[in-house]
Amino acid sequence: MLSVVVLISGSGSNLRALLEATDSPLFPARILAVGADNPAPGLAHAELFDVPTFVVSPSAFESREAWGKTLLESVDFFKPDLVVLAGFMKILPPHFVQALNGRLINTHPSLLPAYPGAHAVRDALAAGATETGVTVHLVDEGVDTGARIAQRSLAVQAGESEGELHERIKVIERELLVSVVRDIAEGRLNLNQIS
Ligand code: GRF
Repeated sequence: MLSVVVLISGSGSNLRALLEATDSPLFPARILAVGADNPAPGLAHAELFDVPTFVVSPSAFESREAWGKTLLESVDFFKPDLVVLAGFMKILPPHFVQALNGRLINTHPSLLPAYPGAHAVRDALAAGATETGVTVHLVDEGVDTGARIAQRSLAVQAGESEGELHERIKVIERELLVSVVRDIAEGRLNLNQIS
């Protein structure tokens, strides 16, 4: 059984999809805990599923490194096989990323390497993209630069807003994230063999 810690910053709909999937005894992964960098509304999903939560806010620390150290300790406490960034919007310090090398993944609402960063959907629309999508990737020390694990695309519709497009992306994002976690848990995907 693959053990997972999920980190979020916002509404947590990707987290919710993972909680619902892993709630089934047939699903080969379990969520041990959910962490956040702020008292995110999405933590309520974890509480509903009786999954422990923790918040480690950067504002409580003198440096990003000190914040990352405490965040890492909080994650390590649960000894997870896999850590999933599901809408976690803070850049993690290098030592955090290195400590979880090969077992830290992120979901991003674009077809990377196109449109990295915090405004991927807005940037795709601004560039006049006709296609965009979602990428699940390994996390390295860059911003959305880690090796790609899986992608799904969708067509941009004429005249749709950033919010509308993001909601449509999030529908396929949730499916892709759940399927990647399942594939890792079932050994169909080996993160050490992704480059
Ligand atoms: C997702 O699209 C994620 O990729 C992006 O922010 C969104 C978070 O959505 N970074 P939610 O909090 O899982 O609903």
